[in-house]
Amino acid sequence: MHLTDEQLKQFDKDGYLFFPKLFSSEETKTLVNEVPKLYERREEYNIREKGSDSVRTNFAAHMYSEPFAKLARHPRMVKPVEDLLGEKLYMHQFKINGKMAFDGDVWQWHQDYGTWKNDDLMPTERAMNVAIFLDDVTEFNGPLIFIPGSHKRGVIDAKHDTSTTSYPLWTLDNKLISELVDRAGGQNGGMVSPKGPAGSMILFHSCLVHCSGSNLSPFNRVSVYLSLCAVSNHIQRFKRKEYIAHRQFDPIQCLPDDCLVKDYPVDLPWKNGLPPSAFETSQEKLAG
Ligand code: SIN
Ligand code: MN
Repeated sequence: MHLTDEQLKQFDKDGYLFFPKLFSSEETKTLVNEVPKLYERREEYNIREKGSDSVRTNFAAHMYSEPFAKLARHPRMVKPVEDLLGEKLYMHQFKINGKMAFDGDVWQWHQDYGTWKNDDLMPTERAMNVAIFLDDVTEFNGPLIFIPGSHKRGVIDAKHDTSTTSYPLWTLDNKLISELVDRAGGQNGGMVSPKGPAGSMILFHSCLVHCSGSNLSPFNRVSVYLSLCAVSNHIQRFKRKEYIAHRQFDPIQCLPDDCLVKDYPVDLPWKNGLPPSAFETSQEKLAG
């Protein structure tokens, strides 16, 4: 799947593109069915919500789960991002966010590139976020909220919030958010919230300012977040564990379009557990 000129222009203006129901129910089901057995594992890569057993985010499933390894190589997801960044990509981060019924906590206002720059020394913002809905996303179960056009501000100063939720995040202050929303149209379009059925996909710029509220509804909002980085823009420091910020910069090779519903061999290097190196960290900048 490739993007039209109009879609490229729209992405440049708004900082995101929404593709309702890009994946069929049959395709989505292969992923949904896998989630409970991943979430029940007592592993460090399952981060649970503060004061609850619900999983907030699961990391690196594409390294040990076949359906997610296929999704990570899906041409309907990878090709548009290659079009937008104009080069081959590697997987920088792979998350399955739970946002579970009643328990799903907020994600504070942030830009993802803020974290990738501050923690991982990713040289520029040439990386993309992809969200794929595994449940229907509605106004009730904590949808993403974007400030359209906010990616044009580039990288904004952020503060490291280690206490609001169970997961540390570089977050933006409320005064600045008010200004950005005002400038984007205030009550008339200053914030948008793409919602739609399971199988929908959003591509969004790594500098797009976003957040999501809590999920007090009785409906889960499981979504996959894939962060794809241009190979030439790979991170320069391994300060975070490898299952959070990946260290293999080989370009993603796509599988055929029907890969989620047919058998194709796929590499699962962490199938029998994570290697000790996946937990090692370093403050050093890569040499060379
Ligand atoms: C994120 O911004 O990384 C996650 C947001 C969400 O799951 O709502
Ligand atoms: Mn984010």
